[in-house]
This record gives sequence, C-alpha cells and structure tokens, in this order.
Amino acid sequence: MSKTFVYMDYNATTPLRSEVKDRMVEALDVYANASSMHESGRRARAEIEEARASVARLIGAKDGSGLFFTSGGSESNNTVFMTMYQLGRKNPARRKIITTAIEHPCVMNAAAYLAEEGFPVVYLPVDSYGRVDMDTLEKELSPDTLLVSVMAANNEIGTIEDIKTITRMAKKVKAFMHSDATQAVGKIPLSVEDLGLDYLTLSCHKIYGPKGIGALYVRPGSPIQPLIRGGHQENGVRAGTYNNLGIIGFGKAAELALADLPDFGKKLTSLRSRLKEGLMAKIPHVRVNGHPEAVLPNTLNLSFPGAEGEAILLSLDLEGIQVSTGSACASGSLEPSHVLLATGLGPELAHGSIRFSLGRNSTEADVDYVIEKMPPIIQRLRRMSTVNPLLGQE
Ligand SMILES: Cc1ncc(COP(=O)(O)O)c(C=O)c1O
Repeated sequence: MSKTFVYMDYNATTPLRSEVKDRMVEALDVYANASSMHESGRRARAEIEEARASVARLIGAKDGSGLFFTSGGSESNNTVFMTMYQLGRKNPARRKIITTAIEHPCVMNAAAYLAEEGFPVVYLPVDSYGRVDMDTLEKELSPDTLLVSVMAANNEIGTIEDIKTITRMAKKVKAFMHSDATQAVGKIPLSVEDLGLDYLTLSCHKIYGPKGIGALYVRPGSPIQPLIRGGHQENGVRAGTYNNLGIIGFGKAAELALADLPDFGKKLTSLRSRLKEGLMAKIPHVRVNGHPEAVLPNTLNLSFPGAEGEAILLSLDLEGIQVSTGSACASGSLEPSHVLLATGLGPELAHGSIRFSLGRNSTEADVDYVIEKMPPIIQRLRRMSTVNPLLGQE
C-alpha cells in the first residue's frame, strides 16, 4: 500500500496548478528577449504585458502601469525599504519607519538594516490575536514618519490586519503606506485602489504558480528606486532580462486565483472549521492562535501545551502529514516564533505550536486523517515531557 501524504503547508508554498504548468510548457518556447525590437521580441513583450494586466486585476489595480515584476516577495519588500533608505538619507527630517512586531523576516531584517543605519524604526505591538495596536500607531505617527509597513495577513497565524484604517491614519501625516500582501493575495479579496496603498508586495509561488517570480505594486507617482541596477527593463525599476517563463506562469496563476476567490474562501473556511473542531474535540488543552474572525480561511495555528512543536512536526511527518512550526523561513532556528511571542504567548507555548495551512487541493479526507493521527501523538509527547505544565491535570 502506498504511503498517505497530506500536505498542509500551503503558506510555505503551493504546488503548481496543472493549468499553469500547461501554460508554462507553451511559454518555454517564448524564448525571445522581450526587450528586443524584432517580431519575436515584440511577441514576448505582448505576453508579458498580458500577464502584467492579469496580476494587476488580481490586486484591483486600475491597470498594469504600477506593477513591476521581481523575483518574489522578499525582493519586493526590500525594494520598498531600500527606496526609503535613499529618501531618508537625503531628508533626515523625515525618516521614521513604522512596522510591526510580526512581519515576515524579509521585512524585519530590511527594517533592522535601516535601524543600523540610524533610522528610527518602531515595531508596533499586536494584541493577543495578532492585530496591530492602533493606539500605539496613533501615538507614533508624526510628521517625520516616512513609511508605515504592515502586512495584510500574517503567514504564521493568519490574522488579517485592518489595512484600510491604517492607511488612512498614515496618510494624515503624509507617510507612504506599504503592505506585504504575500499571504493575503489569492486567499481574500483585496484591492490596492480600495485600500489606498502606495506599495503592495505579492509573490507567485503562494498562488499555485512558479517560484522565483513576484511583483511590487507602486502607486503611480509614489517614489521607487531600483534594488537591482542595469538595463531599462521595468522602466528602470528592476533590471535584468525578462523572466518570460515565470511572468507568463504568474499571469495564468493570477487569472485563475481571481476566478476562484469566492469558492476558495467558502471551501477553505469549511475545511479549517472541520480541522479545528475535530482536533479540539479529541485533544484537551488546545489553544487557537490568531484572530477568531479576521483570519485567512486556510490557516489554523494551534498550541499544544506540554508537547514540543518540532517533535509534533516530526511525528506527523512519519504519518505523511506535512505541516510547519511557525513559518518555514524560521524553521531550523531554535528560537520560538517572534509572531507568537508578540501575541503574548510564553516561550513554552510558542515552542509547542503547529501551523496547519490548507489549500485548494485539501480534502475532508485529509482533514479527517489528521484528526485521526494527531491525538495519540500529542498524548505520547505529553506523557514523555518532563516540563509538561499539564501533568496531574489529565
Ligand atoms: C508574509 C510573507 N512575506 C514575504 C515572503 C517571501 O516571499 P518570497 O518567498 O517570494 O520571497 C513570504 C514567504 O514565505 C511571506 O509569507
């Protein structure tokens, strides 16, 4: 009998959709340099512009004019922060950066670089659900604020931030507003026009497209500086020969993600509830991390006090269940998740947390398999644990 595999790590990355794969196989023949003026070059360029328009539609942009292709979310976020670095160096009177304590490491580390360079950087605290503390934001916003950067949805706990209100507040002091929407795009409806953002980051491999391709939306008129200098591609914002294959795949993935959005939300909300309720009915003392309502439909983060996260992950892996402790980017580090710590969880609970992230291929059978396999694992790990805070309670 073949081994059962249940993939529940869609926030780390998603499999390529078959329609995207088919489109990319065709695109393998689109070899011309899209900057070339001959017919093949012009044809490649037309396909790239079609993809750009499709990605623009997914994020509710008026057209593709503000959309720049990059290698992914990390590059898009760094491009925004390094633009702020250039602006702040020229005008020290406006160089305060406000971000949050729960951003992805590519924002955290870009902000830390600016702090090292002498920029004032504020990491906004969040409440126990992971929502930004608006009072602190209000207090911190001042005429010297250059950028406010708040993620649209958190990769570890799925909490959705109130970006529209935060943008409105940032605009009162004429700060630029950026949102890392890498985890939100394709999972919840979202529009740069409605939100009023200056910058939005997205990444293709989170929406069932290829890896190594992403985009940065820049509101026409908002400043942007290249991170990679070279040729004139992307209006000089991002040099390098066009990644025809990745961009065309991105366009297809974006088109499908937009069409599927309503069904995705309905299906994933139901699967997530089934998983949450099933596990909580069978395992005592489970804590749900993240907001009860403002949460991505596919993300469920649970703490299992008395059981260690990595041990749970490895035991589930032996059963063919693939999940994550915190984020995939933080795995390999023994530090507890900075996101969970920011929500007020102690290090023991933060260490005992598992992120289930479901996706469009997830099924009720997958969920039921996890509900069957997980309780004995937690029971065994809790029994073995010398630091089990529940000893004597069960
Ligand atoms: C919230 C968030 N931002 C940024 C990234 C980085 O995106 P990429 O892998 O495309 O560089 C990720 C990927 O895990 C993410 O979850």
